[in-house]
Amino acid sequence: MSESLTLAATYERTVAASLERVWENVHDWEHLPSLHSVAFCSIALEEAGPWGWRARVTTPPEEAPQKLVIELRRDDDAERYHARTLEGPGTGADTITTLTPRGPDATHVHVEFWVPLPDPSHADAIGRGMVALYTRLWDEDESMMVRRQAMLDGRAPGVARPGTREPIDLGPVDALRATLPSVIDANGEPFRVLEVEGKLLAHSAVCPHRGGPLDDAAIEDGHVICPWHGYRFSLQDGSNPDHERCRMAVRATVEFDSEGGARLVFA
Ligand code: FES
Ligand SMILES: [Fe+2]
Repeated sequence: MSESLTLAATYERTVAASLERVWENVHDWEHLPSLHSVAFCSIALEEAGPWGWRARVTTPPEEAPQKLVIELRRDDDAERYHARTLEGPGTGADTITTLTPRGPDATHVHVEFWVPLPDPSHADAIGRGMVALYTRLWDEDESMMVRRQAMLDGRAPGVARPGTREPIDLGPVDALRATLPSVIDANGEPFRVLEVEGKLLAHSAVCPHRGGPLDDAAIEDGHVICPWHGYRFSLQDGSNPDHERCRMAVRATVEFDSEGGARLVFA
């Protein structure tokens, strides 16, 4: 470790996720601004590979963002990685995380926060801030990893797959409106029914990217926004304006009969 860095704090915990899930999360640069909006506003990848990744990021507040280049690099000889600030505020800081498997669905995480500090008396305050921030970040990561593992294991609903489905009776429209938004089970695949600007719409409640939960996902400009990586899916046709090949494979619409009944129809 460079002599110009001070160890401001350490942090450790055991997360309820396998080592494989944790490494997947570590390489997953794309989730930072969506899942961790408390710490990141945007990210633009410069380079990625089995070694890790390097990206330009901005951090809050959004009105006056700070610009940084950060790099995440795996050690070759250990279950450990460095998150370094290469440009911007805190240049030179090195956060070292060591991973130790503690069972099929448990990984111990040990983090050291090495920071450039002209005045070492600031170390405690900076260290407390880093620990508070990483507690939040790992809470958010853990909930994503746990849900993703449950989906991969078939213990949680998966992505809606194309195939014939019978329409689902939703009952009288007026009564339905009073319950919205709601999630309907269509043979094990959840669909959200919601009202947007007076129209009843529906979409799969599992993101086709990596299975993110869309039950409560935000709606913006006619698109549902996944909380994990921020992918947008059109409520009209399930297309994704940013990632052409990642779209919702099943389209669901709400149709009405002449007696005021509603049903969920799939295409
Ligand atoms: S899981 Fe990645 S955008 Fe939804
Ligand atoms: Fe994360």
